[in-house]
Amino acid sequence: MNIVLVGTQWGDEGKGKVIDILSAQVDVIMRYQGGSNAGHTVVVDGREFIFHLIPSGILHKGKICCIGSGVVVDPEMLNKEIEGLSKAGINIDNRLKISSLAHVILPYHKILDKLRETKRTNKIGTTGRGIGPCYADKINRCGIRMQDLLSPAILKDKLEDNLKEKNEILKKVYQHPGFKFADIYKNYLNYGRSASKYICDTVKLLNREIAQGKDVLFEGAQGTFLDIDFGTYPFVTSSSTIAGGACIGSGVSPRAIDKIIGIAKAYTTRVGEGPFPTEFEPKFEEFIRNKGKEFGATTGRPRRCGWFDSLMVKEAVMLSGITELAIMKMDVLDGLKSIKICTGYKYKGKIFREYPYDPEVLKKASCIYKEIPGWDENLSRIKDYQCLPKQAKNYLKILQDMLGAKITLVSVGSSREETIFS
Ligand code: IMP
Repeated sequence: MNIVLVGTQWGDEGKGKVIDILSAQVDVIMRYQGGSNAGHTVVVDGREFIFHLIPSGILHKGKICCIGSGVVVDPEMLNKEIEGLSKAGINIDNRLKISSLAHVILPYHKILDKLRETKRTNKIGTTGRGIGPCYADKINRCGIRMQDLLSPAILKDKLEDNLKEKNEILKKVYQHPGFKFADIYKNYLNYGRSASKYICDTVKLLNREIAQGKDVLFEGAQGTFLDIDFGTYPFVTSSSTIAGGACIGSGVSPRAIDKIIGIAKAYTTRVGEGPFPTEFEPKFEEFIRNKGKEFGATTGRPRRCGWFDSLMVKEAVMLSGITELAIMKMDVLDGLKSIKICTGYKYKGKIFREYPYDPEVLKKASCIYKEIPGWDENLSRIKDYQCLPKQAKNYLKILQDMLGAKITLVSVGSSREETIFS
């Protein structure tokens, strides 16, 4: 069974936990888009691992973990993660596979990302990890790929060409001194040497594994509404975060995908700028942020918080063909007198029951809510769906009916054990 796992909101839905659970059941884990803008923390036997690039499935013995062609790789970050694993005594030889076609993040990408943000009036609130500029070079056909790091002559050619242009932009537009060719060249050849044993043709590898009947988990990063096409543009990331991105970012046919699972938080969060129709008022937002520990895993920024938006998640279900949903962090809603679900937007007298792509509506609409009673119980102690308080079951039933996908997992805490399968 080949499964794609996608976020249905603005990322940080809790994909890491579900990936960890599903990784145990598959042979190969494939990360297919994004870069070190993503991040999740996994705790195993009291040891903490923070991953930005390498699939956390690497902690499961014997699993093959791929970084696909659709990912943008920051080799400095990659080295840190490899070192961390090696220090912890986790053997990744023959298990970590990096696509030769994946694009490389260079120092000028990171600087340009940050400098662009300082100049813009309408800031995106990026993670500053060089993601946008690196994908821009990819599309602009001047990107440097992992395989280029293995070839001194090719790297020299490409880097010289790129630096000529980037240094001019840096100096003239941003009054930045620019970069020296020799420094980057030497460092990146070194990165290439240390990554060489992992760089390979992941397209053939993955297709071979699938042909042999092995199970693959395609691990999405970020979420549907950060998608470059269907997200709240321009407040999005620079890759295809919907399920279709799994094929593009890994080199397998859509026919190879058997199931698509969507991950949604029981409420909504967002990091960075952009419209957020169901956002809480500040006092309640702070309360939920602290209760749900809603701070960015990569940048530590406080996350904005709001009610569950059924228009968004319904759109995500449609865009990705989601048939199963995992609802995360239900326990954060414990003790609330009532809970609201957004069922429509109202703007200039018009009612929207389907997600509108009009940024003006998303920015200015008021929300129409269905309000239902909350529960007093502490959900994190509950192991069985039937034992959930009736109000919690009611909430899940309403969501399931609205969204048109079966809720098969409910998370009530951060540990593997605090998970209810239904
Ligand atoms: P970038 O991906 O760094 O270019 O950032 C673009 C937007 O996506 C910003 O609003 C970020 O906060 C957001 N973003 C990127 N990665 C993540 C993530 O993993 N979780 C949540 N938001 C993210």
